Amino acid sequence: TVINRLDYTPPAWLVPQIALDFALSLDATRVLSVLSVERNPANPAPTLRLNGDGIAARSVNVDGQPHNDWRMDGADLLIDLPGEAHTVTIETVVNPTANTQLSGLYASGGMLCTQCEAEGFRRITFFPDRPDVLSVYTVKMAGDKQKFPILLSNGNPVASGEGEDGTHWAEWHDPWPKPSYLFALVAGDLVASRDSFTTRSGRKVDLAIYVRAGDEARTDHAMRSLIASMEWDEEVYGREYDLDLFNIVAVSDFNAGAMENKGLNVFNTRYILADPETATDGDYDAVEGVVAHEYFHNWSGNRVTCRDWFQLSLKEGFTVLRDQQFSADRGSAPVKRIEDVRILRAAQFPEDSGPLAHPIRPDSYQEISNFYTATVYNKGAEVIRMMTVLAGPERFRKGTDLYFDRHDGEAATCEDFVKAIEDGAGLDLTQFRRWYQQAGTPRVDVAVAHAGDTVTLTLKQTVPPTPGQPDKQPMVIPLRTALFDRATGKHDGEHLIVLAEAEQSFSFSGHATPPVLSINRGFSAPVAIASPVSNEDLVFLAAHDDDPFARYEAMQQLVVQHLVSAVRGELSPAQRDAGRKAIGEAFAAVLADGALDDLMRGELVILPGESYLHEQLAPVDPGKVRAEREDLKRWLGETLKAEWTTLHDRCSAVPYSLDAAARGARKLKTQALVYLAPAAPTEAARRARAQYDAATNMTDRQGALMVLAGLDVPERAVALADFHQRFAGNMLVIDKWFSLQAGSLHPDALAHVQALAGHPDFTLNNPNRVRALYMAAAANPGVFHDASGAGYRMIADLILQLDPINGNVAARFVPPLGRWKKIEPARAALMRAELERIAAQPGLSRDVREQVSKSLEG
Ligand code: ARG
Ligand code: ZN
Repeated sequence: TVINRLDYTPPAWLVPQIALDFALSLDATRVLSVLSVERNPANPAPTLRLNGDGIAARSVNVDGQPHNDWRMDGADLLIDLPGEAHTVTIETVVNPTANTQLSGLYASGGMLCTQCEAEGFRRITFFPDRPDVLSVYTVKMAGDKQKFPILLSNGNPVASGEGEDGTHWAEWHDPWPKPSYLFALVAGDLVASRDSFTTRSGRKVDLAIYVRAGDEARTDHAMRSLIASMEWDEEVYGREYDLDLFNIVAVSDFNAGAMENKGLNVFNTRYILADPETATDGDYDAVEGVVAHEYFHNWSGNRVTCRDWFQLSLKEGFTVLRDQQFSADRGSAPVKRIEDVRILRAAQFPEDSGPLAHPIRPDSYQEISNFYTATVYNKGAEVIRMMTVLAGPERFRKGTDLYFDRHDGEAATCEDFVKAIEDGAGLDLTQFRRWYQQAGTPRVDVAVAHAGDTVTLTLKQTVPPTPGQPDKQPMVIPLRTALFDRATGKHDGEHLIVLAEAEQSFSFSGHATPPVLSINRGFSAPVAIASPVSNEDLVFLAAHDDDPFARYEAMQQLVVQHLVSAVRGELSPAQRDAGRKAIGEAFAAVLADGALDDLMRGELVILPGESYLHEQLAPVDPGKVRAEREDLKRWLGETLKAEWTTLHDRCSAVPYSLDAAARGARKLKTQALVYLAPAAPTEAARRARAQYDAATNMTDRQGALMVLAGLDVPERAVALADFHQRFAGNMLVIDKWFSLQAGSLHPDALAHVQALAGHPDFTLNNPNRVRALYMAAAANPGVFHDASGAGYRMIADLILQLDPINGNVAARFVPPLGRWKKIEPARAALMRAELERIAAQPGLSRDVREQVSKSLEG
């Protein structure tokens, strides 16, 4: 069944209070739920609909009396009630150990925990499981003291005590009304790292991060990140924390990254645990970003929540923007921007151009779990970022203040957010709202004309057709632009061009000679720019642009133009030489530029990713893209061999620390090996082995192992075996061991993945492990797009095997197959055949069914 956004109706009954009572057990937890229900004046109707999923009511009481006058409608329990208010009591029993879907109440390594967003609460008890029903929760739980010494829920602890037969109990109360998706319960044998934070109005908040015994030494970075987030949200958005304690629990078995349950965030261990030996610099950043993200949800998500799931980007897009801004402030803002754009292009652009394209506020869905996408999250953040560009920071802040003020305690809509920004910031966003309605990445074609002292830019926008949206209206596209004088290497100030029509011209005087155009600086709009810039101008911008993002962009464009033409077979030998020469010059300049910091230098020398290159080509021959990209790498490795080896030596001498200079050195150290590997494999292997052996930290070790994993050298097997043995028992590091092999450039990587599926450490029951092996494989064109079709078959087999265990995670593997239309015909037919094979399977989860059927239609 399809749920449509425009069919929204308010709930007939509200639930101002709920009291839950859990008798905890790993395989039969009894749940008693007491709901105080009140008729909703906004939509009064007699039937109380309580959603359920895979549960049965043991008993139903209304106003203290056994009640038999209820009925099931599918999985939902319906009761017709007269009058205005009642107490409804329902008893259910759930088996957490049998819950392999990890939604609702489940067991993970002997502990009990919950994941309720989006629709997991209905797998615990019958309830109006929709985000516009807000309740005050009181939660009592009792269980074996030995198995579950720690008993946690949302809000504050109010009472606890001893029970019979070695049990104990605890009661929690959360004063803030919340929707059911924010409910959480954790019971288990955990230890806490503790700290505290005092808010600017003087509230002392006790902070705790709960982990398994032995992991507490790896929580420092998460704790520091949490405290920094609390400070930052006060300073930058004026948002204070609102309870006396804030708990985080880290869980090994988790479908997503983390969850913002009120006062009790639950995290995938990979976004909490970090120390230098086991976590890379990238992992440190991810911990900081996700801790901040979940903390920021306390206002953008919890205090102001979503009216319905079509509004998901209201909380996710805004919260991603907030965590991006936070991380930019904590480290290098330009590098953070480049990373965020790289993620958008690698993950969201393909979504926007494929059969699963949807607006950041979707119009319909079958399974909401399928809409926790890069579009809703990352493009959603870009859309709000454009508002910050249009308004400027001060006015934007007026808008968010008004938003929080106006909608505190409410379940709001994206429209409410836009209206608040309009009113508070004093913007007219009438046409801008199309960003919420239209899917697809807009393309802007740029033509530059010069006459006299005037430059005229003529911009043409096209928003491509997407499923269900054949015709598009022009978007509002803010483009930060500068015009550089070739002679001075300077520009005359940045202009904000706001393109709002299908075609529009903008003129600038005072340019006696034709300037060099720098457009969409800072990636001010999430669009694809098509402008005819010569290699010479790109080399100029790569060296001179004062916007660091624009410098990176010029490097990328230089390489993209070259590789795309090469893959298309459009380059004569002379043109190939000229293109390479320009790229080589730009690289040499970046490597030699003493004014650049190493973190930024590291970004500038990363070649555009294969998935982004695929986006520039239709149809794509993934084999050719791989071959051309690798050959360019080999050429750069050869041409700049002396520079790479000098760089590797220089960076290897920098001691470990978390400061930017040392991090930059680590990044470049492995980059140098990446270029040396195809050019001088023996030398690269020797250096990688030395880097591996000398490593005091995971960044160096993983970088070296990554390079070795891609080479056919004797050091490869030795290092892989050492790594596995050295980190045996550390789940997160063993995940890296799987990922590195599945993502490697080794010619036999597909066979390696197939063999690793049978490794004793592999299991389909742990989402991190499944993703470590198979997401890395699906994202590695050398594996996934193997011309035989064996990669496609492997992923389809995985989907079929995993679906009965965990449909939510299984469905995440469908989009790679769904890109068949963009791929050259022979592979496309093989991909489509695998989708059809999946579709023919009876009893698929709603998650996989929706993704597969849309992928076949697209
Ligand atoms: N709200 C969580 C976050 O972004 C993610 C929840 C994921 N749920 C899901 N069904 N995929 O922080
Ligand atoms: Zn979120």
